Amino acid sequence: MQIGNLHIDHPIFLAPMAGITDHPFRVICREYGVGVVYTEFVSANGIVRESAKTLDMVRFTPDERPIGIQLFGEDAATIAESAAIMAERFQPDIIDLNFGCPVPKVTKRGAGSAMLRDLDLMRRVVEATVAAVPDLPVTVKMRAGWDKSCIVASEAAAIIEAAGAVALTLHPRTTTQSFSGLADWSLIAEVKRTVSIPVVGNGDVRTPHDALRMFEETGCDAVMVARGALGRPWFFRQIGDLLAGREPQEVTLSEVTRVCRRHFELLLADRSEQLAVNLTKKHFSHYLKGFPNAGHWRKAFLSTESTASIGQLLDELDRFAEDAGTVTLPLASETGQHAG
Ligand SMILES: Cc1cc2nc3c(=O)[nH]c(=O)nc-3n(C[C@H](O)[C@H](O)[C@H](O)COP(=O)(O)O)c2cc1C
Repeated sequence: MQIGNLHIDHPIFLAPMAGITDHPFRVICREYGVGVVYTEFVSANGIVRESAKTLDMVRFTPDERPIGIQLFGEDAATIAESAAIMAERFQPDIIDLNFGCPVPKVTKRGAGSAMLRDLDLMRRVVEATVAAVPDLPVTVKMRAGWDKSCIVASEAAAIIEAAGAVALTLHPRTTTQSFSGLADWSLIAEVKRTVSIPVVGNGDVRTPHDALRMFEETGCDAVMVARGALGRPWFFRQIGDLLAGREPQEVTLSEVTRVCRRHFELLLADRSEQLAVNLTKKHFSHYLKGFPNAGHWRKAFLSTESTASIGQLLDELDRFAEDAGTVTLPLASETGQHAG
């Protein structure tokens, strides 16, 4: 597929996830064949203020490409300025605009999914950003509406396309729904019928078969996965298997251990000792799930205080995985699958 003039080899995307889709996780997902990755959402105001913390969140390496930097904010001029700064300093492949975050801290400022209640502001944000980064594809990720009495997905999609965005992702839940209920995939199909730019479907893809079904039921051009890949980057290989007509390969505990070690090593290369320890604990609590004794290992890593003790525990986990032999992880993530 094409996003503007950017060619995408594989139409499966890793969704932006705050606190999760950091540099190591994005690298690992690319190694498992995901087609596009995104940074977590970053504040346009923080970028324009040159906040070191904000700028640090968008650093990436060439092996992560194609990568989108996702911006959120409430003011069109500031968002556009932040996009220009990102383009100049980091040269991402895509600038993505967040019109989907339901968190009150964000929406009460008029940012994230609050844009769904002000489509004129949404239009101005897209237009200003497109004008600010003429050489980069600008895309949008949004929810379906503010609440069930205000479903604006198709109306917003038409505005976004007319304003110059070259693709859009729809997570078809409302703001007030947050993560409850099911994503209404019929709205992805409706948006797909409304616009001619590529439409990326998102929401409740928990098994490789869900991804296939999302393509079939909605006609979307690509599928984006968030929670289904949380602690399970191999999910992208399994989806790739299915799309290529192969039975999705299960994951062994040895492979989980190898991913943990890879993530740890990428953190060590990129972060201070203390931050590497803290981030390792967070990410390992997602990786170490779904096999016998997983709770014991999560607790063991949570009590570590140094990178040396994490290294030792990883060696022990390796031996445990070897002894466990053929233990494999289930194909669906723990929260179950979309009901259709
Ligand atoms: C921990 C977490 C953090 C998220 N952070 C972001 C974010 O920074 N930007 C964004 O557009 N969506 C964010 N989302 C929403 C996801 O990208 C996605 O739209 C949503 O989880 C639905 O997809 P899923 O059913 O595959 O999880 C986040 C979701 C989770 C679970």
